[in-house]
Amino acid sequence: MTLTSQKAYLALQKHYSETSSLHMRDLFKEDPERFNKFSLKLDDFVLDYSKNRITDETLPLLINLANECGLKDKINAMFSGKQINFTENRSVLHIALRNRSNTPIYVNNKDVMPEINRVLEKMHLFSDQVRNGSWKGATGKSITDIVNIGIGGSDLGPYMATEALKKYKTEKLNFHFVSNIDGTDIVEKLKKCSPETTLFLVASKTFTTQETMVNAQTARTWLVEALGQAAVPHHFVALSTNKEEVEKFGIDSKNMFEFWSFIGGRYSMWSAVGLSIMLAIGYEAFVEMLEGAHEMDTHFKEAPFDKNMPVILGLLGIWYHVFYGSETYAVLPYDAYLHRLPAYLQQLDMESNGKRNAQDGSVISYPTGPILFGESGTNGQHSFYQLIHQGTHLIPCDFIIPINSLNPIGEHHDILLANALAQPEALMRGKTPEELKEEGVPEALIPFKTFPGNRPTNSILMTKMTPRNLGRLIALYEHKVFVMGVLLNIDSFDQWGVELGKILAKKILPELHDIAPTTTHDCSTNALINYIKGIRG
Ligand code: F6P
Repeated sequence: MTLTSQKAYLALQKHYSETSSLHMRDLFKEDPERFNKFSLKLDDFVLDYSKNRITDETLPLLINLANECGLKDKINAMFSGKQINFTENRSVLHIALRNRSNTPIYVNNKDVMPEINRVLEKMHLFSDQVRNGSWKGATGKSITDIVNIGIGGSDLGPYMATEALKKYKTEKLNFHFVSNIDGTDIVEKLKKCSPETTLFLVASKTFTTQETMVNAQTARTWLVEALGQAAVPHHFVALSTNKEEVEKFGIDSKNMFEFWSFIGGRYSMWSAVGLSIMLAIGYEAFVEMLEGAHEMDTHFKEAPFDKNMPVILGLLGIWYHVFYGSETYAVLPYDAYLHRLPAYLQQLDMESNGKRNAQDGSVISYPTGPILFGESGTNGQHSFYQLIHQGTHLIPCDFIIPINSLNPIGEHHDILLANALAQPEALMRGKTPEELKEEGVPEALIPFKTFPGNRPTNSILMTKMTPRNLGRLIALYEHKVFVMGVLLNIDSFDQWGVELGKILAKKILPELHDIAPTTTHDCSTNALINYIKGIRG
């Protein structure tokens, strides 16, 4: 049954019309217990969702909706290996990659845990060798530079996490991430590397992605020109599900770290795709990250919905995007190490829930996944926060706030924290014309200096950024996206929408080399192709 035909949906519509004009400023004034009621703690991880446009009735109503949509059964189905990716007939088991309790999880009657543990151990041995210098390049030198070649999930997760955990990185290795087909990406990164001491990780679930394969070929040519063909096995490893294509590329399968079709690309940083993360921070810290994610998985699976962080975030997402019609949300990490988090979450959320068909194939009539953007604090404050405070859009925001800095210096972190706390307060309270008048603001300026407030935020606090807390944080968002996908009645685990552009690019590529004018497209595309050909001669 689709979202809008659920009984609870109608009750929520009524609740929305009764409560949407309430101001959070008044709700806080009326109820000094609001923080205690609307916050949760998981070890040192705190979620404050009290600055949302909700009353005591909202969450129970949203939970009714979740129950009517069968959320509990869907969670159990994911954790037990059912094929919930129904357009591709696949299980969805990133949770198995961090299943530190090692309880069996079955796909086609086979426990997947022994294979997962085997690859993790292979990554352990390999990363130890590279980190302690005993893995040698073709000329007998230890590795100094790691180049991860991959795109989408085979880039965003590893890149985001190695940046987030830079403080825990070995000094002995430098990391580079090549993703874009734009030659500038690989050319600029290889300028910093020497063939004798560079190790390439070719990361691709399918091992057919055009950008990754072309970049990997370029890297191989760069290496072979310097050191000869025999150097390849010393300098290339593959992270993939596709053994056949890996071997075709010329990488020995003993240098391949596998994962499986039940791991979606955007959920793959916990798998062999995370080898760069393990090389950076070491096996123990990588396992700590897995443990953090496993803690969040267990919480998600077991906590009642009214005490369940991912469920609450997902339900609030539905509240704003479906009932309030918010089309966007912002993720604002007050930690410079998390500067790639918004980009990572863009793929996670928008590739998962940017869909328009319900399970039965019908076109959905309500809004689905939101548009996500963000920037690390306080940079965003001096850029787009103006629009969040005073613009005409309602943009729910998540503030992510490590309490302690990994680089304590002077008053920097206190100032950062003060800002991270002030922004949600300002967004909630706003500033009234009366307050401005009292301050003596000239009448003519009052409309411009008024802040409407009533703008929703969540604050997620942690003691400091550690591998464990990063694991918890990413798993929190993965499950939030899952919850929204279940309620929206879509398949969050396919991505058919990326195919058409790829097919058309393959058609255009030879046309760029054909001297005859191109006539096979619409007049705009034809004209652009022909103009480019004219300029390039
Ligand atoms: O085109 C989108 C996509 O399929 C993503 O879902 C995926 O993360 C990315 O491309 C890379 O795919 P692969 O790991 O197979 O190279």
